[in-house]
Parts: sequence; C-alpha cells; structure tokens
Amino acid sequence: MLRIGDLSRSFREGQRVHRVLDHANAQIAAGEVVAIIGRSGSGKSTLLNLVSGIDRPDGGTIEFAGRMISALGEPERTLFRRKHVGFVYQLFNLLPTLDVEENVRLVLELNGVHGAAARERSRAALAEVGLGDRLHSAVDVLSGGEQQRVAIARALVHEPALLLADEPTGNLDQDSAREIVPLLRALAQRRSAALLIATHDPGLARSADRVLELIDGRLQTRAALGAPS
Ligand SMILES: Nc1ncnc2c1ncn2[C@@H]1O[C@H](COP(=O)(O)OP(=O)(O)OP(=O)(O)O)[C@@H](O)[C@H]1O
Ligand SMILES: [Mg+2]
Repeated sequence: MLRIGDLSRSFREGQRVHRVLDHANAQIAAGEVVAIIGRSGSGKSTLLNLVSGIDRPDGGTIEFAGRMISALGEPERTLFRRKHVGFVYQLFNLLPTLDVEENVRLVLELNGVHGAAARERSRAALAEVGLGDRLHSAVDVLSGGEQQRVAIARALVHEPALLLADEPTGNLDQDSAREIVPLLRALAQRRSAALLIATHDPGLARSADRVLELIDGRLQTRAALGAPS
C-alpha cells in the first residue's frame, strides 16, 4: 500500500551537503505495524515528514494506494495529508485554546464534516482512548499520557489509512508509555490502517510486526526483536 522507492533527501548546511536519506526503500502493507529505528539524527523524522507530504524528497518516489505522492504539488499534498494521514507527534501539538473535544473535531471540520455528526465522531474517538469523560477539559490540565491520547484520537478520528507516530512515547513516563503502543496498534488495526512508528525505544519496537533501521540513509530490515522477556 505504501511504497518508498530510492528516496533521497539532503540538507545544505553552508558549503556542506548533508545527505540524510540516500536511496531508502521500503514497502508497507495495509494494516501492518512497522517500527523505524535508528540513532538520533539518522533521519527518522525526515522520513515520516516525507511520507506524510509535509516535506518533499530530492529524489525517489513515495507511492500510496496507487498515487504518486512525491509528484504532487503543495496544495495536493496538503489535501492528501488531511484526508489520508494521521500524525502523532512527540510533543502532542494540541491547541491550548480549544478543549479536548474541539481539538479532535477540528480535523473533521477541515475534512468538511460539521455539526452533530462531527461532534458524535469526536466523542466516539475520545471514548476509544478512554477520555469520554474529559471532552470539555482544557488540554493543558491533562496529564502527559492523557494529552498523548487526545493526540491519538485526533490522528484517527477521520479514519486515515496511514497513521504515523514520531517518538509517541518520548515525553511520557514509563507507565503511560507502555499503554500507548498497544493502544495505537489496536486502533490502527481496527481501521486496517498501516502504522509507522519512529522510535528510540526498543520496547516499543518489539511490539511492531517489522523493524526497519535507518543506517547511512538507507532502510535495512532488522530481525524481529522478539517479545519482551
Ligand atoms: N530542515 C532541516 N534543515 C537542515 N538539516 C535538517 C533539517 N531537518 C533535518 N535536518 C538534519 O537531518 C538529520 C536527520 O534529522 P531527523 O530529525 O530526521 O533525525 P531523527 O532520526 O528523527 O533524530 P531523533 O532521533 O533525534 O529525533 C539531522 O542531522 C538534522 O540536523
Ligand atoms: Mg526525530
């Protein structure tokens, strides 16, 4: 469903060109859960930004459900992202002026779903992450784990086919972190969405179906890390 072909991305720093992705290749099936690991600076966030259409590659292709995303212009990439992609960030990126339910509903409004239907779907998504009783809380009074669950509801409320998570447990205590991945996984699979998680955390990578490691700008298959002992 997602094909990454010879994907390359460099950044210029003064005279120097820093080649972050260098002919990276991968194929990810619908409903698959894939962890992207690699040392800090290896290009995990760069890769997710390219796949989501936030950024454009210098070379290579990103094909999603038969569409060549890498060939789209900026407005089409924005529409693609809005409709088909959910993104969970390390820093949650919730809007502090909106309450919990409004943060989630905004995604539907941007997709043209309004009124009672939008409210109903937002409530249902928040109930799925265990926040059905916090609909009208201000987001900044929630705990880190609760904020991350709002961010997950927001990433899934429009039923995207592709769910991307960039260090989704990076700002959580261990107990909250442990809950996040099974939750992401269950919600993605219920929708047959592919889930791509960039992470440093081996515990998190273990719960993926497949682990890809970014080394020298390329994606290499890692042997399954196995279940935690
Ligand atoms: N917009 C940019 N301009 C210049 N350099 C950039 C830009 N974005 C990323 N880079 C560089 O690309 C490299 C890869 O960055 P990236 O954020 O993808 O790494 P990462 O694997 O996500 O690291 P981390 O695990 O620390 O989050 C880094 O060296 C970074 O400095
Ligand atoms: Mg990163």
